[in-house]
Amino acid sequence: MAGTRIIATGSHVPDRVVTNVDLEELMDTSDEWIQQRTGVKERRWVPEGREIGGSDLAKVATERALKKAELEEGDIDAIIYATLSPDHMFPGAACFLQQKLGLKGIAALDIRNQCSGFLYGLSIADAWIRTGAYERVLLVGAEVHSTGLDISTRGRDVSVIFGDGAGAVLLGPTDKNGDGVLGVTLGADGRYAKDLWVDVPGSIYHPQCDPAHMTEGRQYPQMEGSKVFKHAVVKMPGAVRRVLGDAGLGTEDIRLLIPHQANLRITEMVQQGLRLRDDQVFSNIHKYGNTTAASIPLALDEALSEGRLERGDLLVLAAFGAGFTWGAAAIRY
Ligand code: ACO
Repeated sequence: MAGTRIIATGSHVPDRVVTNVDLEELMDTSDEWIQQRTGVKERRWVPEGREIGGSDLAKVATERALKKAELEEGDIDAIIYATLSPDHMFPGAACFLQQKLGLKGIAALDIRNQCSGFLYGLSIADAWIRTGAYERVLLVGAEVHSTGLDISTRGRDVSVIFGDGAGAVLLGPTDKNGDGVLGVTLGADGRYAKDLWVDVPGSIYHPQCDPAHMTEGRQYPQMEGSKVFKHAVVKMPGAVRRVLGDAGLGTEDIRLLIPHQANLRITEMVQQGLRLRDDQVFSNIHKYGNTTAASIPLALDEALSEGRLERGDLLVLAAFGAGFTWGAAAIRY
């Protein structure tokens, strides 16, 4: 088998739109601050009081991808599900998605690599397909952040950034040399694990989460924003140059770069670092905020529906996230 191609994509976000002005009601913040620092205008959050998990969003995204591919659930041979907000601590969210898709018996794997999870998942899917282990792999990124954010002023540096959503990509084999996934590069540096993290529940504590933890707000994400920024704007361009170099390509060959939608300022710095034109870089963070593992497949689905990419174009994906983790992929779409 020569390689792995994208068969079709789908995405889904909740109907509930939460604007920056809505957040002004909940915490000491402003539309101006949020837009200037992050580029986010609004995000989607699941409705309050309903038990909607990432796997519910992923199910709809998957159904949309299947419809475009003219395939059915039963055509999927394996599921890879990237998320930092699984429906439950265990089992993995991929098992919940498998059940909701009405599938039984196929492999279901969770990837816990945060904003880089989709690219880590792509690397595994590519290996499975190339080796013939599985023919058609469903790779999803799905998140429900809104139920885990500190929406008081204490948590405003983090909570204004994140949104809920899901993206799904169906991957399958291609016989054509130079088609599909040309390469994926991945990296991580655990020295920074606590610069973007959620402390509890944690199995190192006994019990894993107690009322004192909750009072201190340790169940909410904590971020050293400037450290994340400084590393992201170096690691993402570095990964892009590496994956292109390995494929014998240069930045001028890129038709579309879809960076993880972390923050508009990070995307702009990545674009500058790679000296790319505006039309070579995709951004939709203004509409959805940062949806971590879902951001790349959600953006890819939207870019395709806007006609930003044709078959044969060079697509580059890049991510940076908690861990710290990062990666890039070059794909002849
Ligand atoms: N509204 C209003 N004021 C706020 C808010 C808010 N939502 N959040 C923080 N502030 C205040 C701070 O309390 C601080 O006040 P002070 O000066 O009185 O102490 C002031 O704004 C400036 O805070 P800084 O943290 O210095 O703000 P900065 O300009 O660095 O912006 C930000 C913060 C946007 C998080 C920035 O560090 C950044 O862009 N970091 C990148 C991290 C990021 O985008 N992560 C995305 C998620 S991780 C990922 O996907 C890889």
